[in-house]
Order: sequence, then C-alpha cells, then structure tokens
Amino acid sequence: MTLAPAPIEGAAGPGSGNRVPRPIPRHVAIIMDGNGRWAKQRGLPRAAGHRAGAEAVRRALQAAADHGVEVLTIYAFSSENWRRSTEEIADLTALMRFYLEREIKTLDKEGVRLRLIGDHSAFGGELVDRLEKAVERTASNDRLTLVIALSYGSRAEITAAARRLAVKAAAGEIDPASIDEAAIGAELQTAGLPELDLLIRTSGEQRLSNFLLWQAAYAELLFVDTLWPDFDEQTFAEALKVYAARERRFGGRGSAA
Ligand code: IPE
Ligand code: IPE
Ligand code: MG
Repeated sequence: MTLAPAPIEGAAGPGSGNRVPRPIPRHVAIIMDGNGRWAKQRGLPRAAGHRAGAEAVRRALQAAADHGVEVLTIYAFSSENWRRSTEEIADLTALMRFYLEREIKTLDKEGVRLRLIGDHSAFGGELVDRLEKAVERTASNDRLTLVIALSYGSRAEITAAARRLAVKAAAGEIDPASIDEAAIGAELQTAGLPELDLLIRTSGEQRLSNFLLWQAAYAELLFVDTLWPDFDEQTFAEALKVYAARERRFGGRGSAA
C-alpha cells in the first residue's frame, strides 16, 4: 500500500472534475458488511469473502488518507460475532494475523497510527501480541488514525464507562453531580478522537449492530448496497460527496433559519 499525498483543494489537473467537495469529514466509521454474501454469489466459501474484504480495507484506508480524513474507524468483529462457527472465527483470526504481519511496516511508514477499541484480548495468543505491538510501534504517527473495533460492542463500552464512574463516585473521588456528557465520553474507548461525522454501512443492511451508539448521536448515516469486498476508492469518494451535500443541523434550524 502506498498512501499518496492528499489532493490539494482547488488544484486543477487531470481528474480534478472528480474532486470531492468540502467539507471532508474528520472521522469516518465503516460497518464492513457483506463478505459472506459476496462469497455466496460466487459459490465460494465465506473465508474467501473475508479475504476479499481485507483487501477492501486497504482501499478504504488509502481513500481516507487521500481525502485527508483524520480518523477511520472500522468494525472488524462485533461482540456478537462470537456466535459464529468456530471455523469462521478461526478463519477471521488467521486472516487478521496475516494482514497485520504483512501490512504493519507499510502502515507505520505511511504515518498511520493504529488504535483498538473493543476487547481484542478475547482473541488470545499471537494475534493479541501482534496487535499490541502494532499499536505500540505506530503510537507516535500522526497522518491518519486507523481505529479497529475488535470484539467491540457499544453497549458493553457504555456499561463499562458507567461502572468506572460509579466506582469513582463510591470512592468519593468524584461528585455524582459532576458526571456530564464529557465525563462519559472521556471514559469511552474513543476518548480523545474527533466526533464521528460519517458512519457508512455496506451491503444494504440498515442497522447499527451495536456499533458506536453514543458516538453516532449526530453522525450522518449512509447505507450503501455495495458488498464490502467490492468497496473501493470510488465508493468512498461517492460517500464523501453525499456527506458534503447533507445539511448538518445539530438540533438548530440550519440554513433555512
Ligand atoms: C462482515 O461480513 C464481516 C464480519 C461480520 C466479520 P459478514 O460475514 O457479516 O457477511 P454477510 O452479512 O454474511 O454477507
Ligand atoms: C456487523 O455485521 C459487525 C461487523 C461488520 C464486524 P454483522 O453481519 O455481524 O451484523 P448483523 O448480525 O447482520 O446485525
Ligand atoms: Mg453481516
């Protein structure tokens, strides 16, 4: 993977007709769905769909970097995905290990900072070790932050935050009356990241599946029919165009006011 420099706004030149209008979202999250259906359509095993999906991650990351997105958060494995067969979970684990090993050098060189949300320790063994080493190795990079949600569930995340605040309050460290939205946000695993601006789900499903429930409060939601393994730079650019055309009101009256 080579992360080309972000295009300069307003620069003329070949392809400038395709330039994505501003504003560009600072933080984009993707529910990468449809690997199984992609494989089924081709008469392939589900693992083949996951493999093709991993290639789509590289394209999404490249596109995010090209457009100057600061944070890309991807839903790789939900806390509910443990309900899948041991065979599929083993395939996914092996695939993540393989890609991490193959890509980490490039990610680091390209200035990508890796961050994890969820409970990656649930995967055990070598993958955990590699994930943690990758986070450590890329900690001081600042071009783009790639947040990987692994064994992630938003309700569990919010529950843990509430529990930690309750413990602090019971210990007399904080006054319960001082617990505000910022205090809860600071206990979430996404603490310190910019607000989520755009949440994309592929494969035509229109639900959040326990992903970033708190963080998506005012995100723009975009559901596209593309199956995740078919996701590419163009799909990403189209999503940014839709985002730029949306009017974000945040409860106010917007431009009609
Ligand atoms: C998304 O694709 C990948 C993961 C959830 C790990 P799916 O595996 O959910 O694909 P579909 O929904 O069965 O097509
Ligand atoms: C959501 O997809 C989780 C990931 C993309 C990792 P699922 O395919 O697991 O979601 P549901 O079960 O259709 O809601
Ligand atoms: Mg699915």
